[in-house]
Amino acid sequence: MTKLHSSDTEKNARIAGTGSYLPQSILSNADLEKMVDTTDEWIFSRTGIRERHIAAADEFTSDLAFNAAQNAIASARIEANAIDLIIVATTTPDKVFPSVATIVQRKLGIAGCPAFDIQAVCSGFVYALTTANNFIKAGGAKCVLVIGAETFSRITDYTDRGNCILWGDGAGAIILQASIEVGVISTHLHADGNYEKMLHVPRKQDGTSDTVIMEGNAVFKMAVNTLDQIVDETLAANGMQKSDIDWLVPHQANIRILQATAKKLDMSMDKVIVTVDKHGNTSAASIPLALDVAIKDGRIKRGDVILMEAFGGGFTWGSALIKY
Ligand code: UT7
Repeated sequence: MTKLHSSDTEKNARIAGTGSYLPQSILSNADLEKMVDTTDEWIFSRTGIRERHIAAADEFTSDLAFNAAQNAIASARIEANAIDLIIVATTTPDKVFPSVATIVQRKLGIAGCPAFDIQAVCSGFVYALTTANNFIKAGGAKCVLVIGAETFSRITDYTDRGNCILWGDGAGAIILQASIEVGVISTHLHADGNYEKMLHVPRKQDGTSDTVIMEGNAVFKMAVNTLDQIVDETLAANGMQKSDIDWLVPHQANIRILQATAKKLDMSMDKVIVTVDKHGNTSAASIPLALDVAIKDGRIKRGDVILMEAFGGGFTWGSALIKY
């Protein structure tokens, strides 16, 4: 088992391991054809999605997060009690409080370390990763469990064909460790609260949550333009060229958004990790899920440079440039 050494020189953060978890039940486009006025052809051509996973009735975001966390812990070859901070990015917590992070902590049996959730919708994982990296850089943590986990099916209106076809459930996790070597190269976060009503889940009068309301086409256009800008910002901040990026691990919102970002990077689609076809849009879980898939199948290798980017409700958006 890896033992952490405390040292002032270990102020970089590297990904020591990754994990993910998908609930068993699959909702296919054919299933959706029976629920709303849509077709497999429309969904696939407009979004790139064929199917998505849906949590069981007794399965909650913390269950998905816990399973992904266990995989990441095994992959990093650490013991759970080496973790000294837990951050969960989620928009669909089990309860209003306590946080999913504290529930995961209890399930892992590692009471004591700080644990909290971050709510930045589809950009949540990039926000959580940035926070974890900054904790490590400041010397406040050495081994951070960062999770993106969602049960978006719980806030989806399955009579609204305009967006119910997008969402899926799942979780991805990483172990971010203090290191002498550079791992996280830079992170970039933004938000603009003026767009609240374009993509939101309002509360009902009785205090319970409602379902996703989205001006899909307007959000789509904003996402493409904003992600173009964050690519430029990230490369410029590091004096890097487009060709320096080995892999794009984007938030999996819609294949056409992924294709637009790849085009911006002059990158062929075989350098873009695509899981939207099988996972749908799992919000904060989509980046760590895609990362885990591509590491486990051997495409992403140690030393490769990865660009992660995301755009979501708020609006929030951000990127992380990482040497794996
Ligand atoms: O992850 C966080 C951020 N979220 C996103 O990035 C999502 C961004 N938006 C999208 O992915 C796309 O806008 C959608 C997939 C949600 C919609 O695709 P679109 O190409 O923007 O379609 P649209 O909303 O402009 O609708 C085009 C037509 C409309 O019919 P008319 O008015 O042209 O007759 C819709 O009523 O498609 C119709 N339509 C559908 N038809 C069959 C909308 N949803 C469906 C459907 N099946 N499920």
